[in-house]
Formats: sequence, C-alpha cells, structure tokens
Amino acid sequence: MGRDEVILCQCCVILESEVIACARRGARTLAEIADGCDAGTGCGSCRGAIATILEEEEARRRRAEGLPEALLRLPLFAGAGKEGVAGSGKGGAGKKPVK
Ligand code: FES
Repeated sequence: MGRDEVILCQCCVILESEVIACARRGARTLAEIADGCDAGTGCGSCRGAIATILEEEEARRRRAEGLPEALLRLPLFAGAGKEGVAGSGKGGAGKKPVK
C-alpha cells in the first residue's frame, strides 16, 4: 500500500483504489461492489462513500460516451445504469407499450 492510499472500508481493509477498480471492471451497484471486492459487507458505514464512487464512475462512463451533462439530467436518463432500473418495468426497455 502506497502512502497516498486510502482505506475506504475499514471493516474489510479495502482501499479506495480497489473499489474504483471494481467499478471500472463493471460493478454498478453496492451489491456488485460487495461481490467484487467485499467492500461494504461489514458495518456499512462506508456504503455512502462507495455510492459516491459509483455515481462518479457512472458520470465518467457517460462523459466517455460523449453524452453531455445537461442531457444526462433529463428524467429519461435519471438512474440509468443503477440497480433496478433497466428492465424493471419502471419505464424504459421493460415497459409494455400502451394500446
Ligand atoms: S467500513 Fe466498510 S463495511 Fe464497515
């Protein structure tokens, strides 16, 4: 561990950089982070920080895709990529058309 490394999850001794790496490998939810690197599986006090990292990584992915921030604030994109949205029947791809 380098001098600048920050332990994000004290219970499981998981570095912030490990959580970021897990998110960049594809984890999009707290549960997926827990599965990927165990962070957040103890007392839970670090879950807010993990959620912030997930939001920042989602924003980073969106910027990399070239979508402007103003577009991402529209309700259509709100929560995109988060747990329980895609295919959940709460709008978007999983919703049946109205006849
Ligand atoms: S500090 Fe991460 S679960 Fe307790």
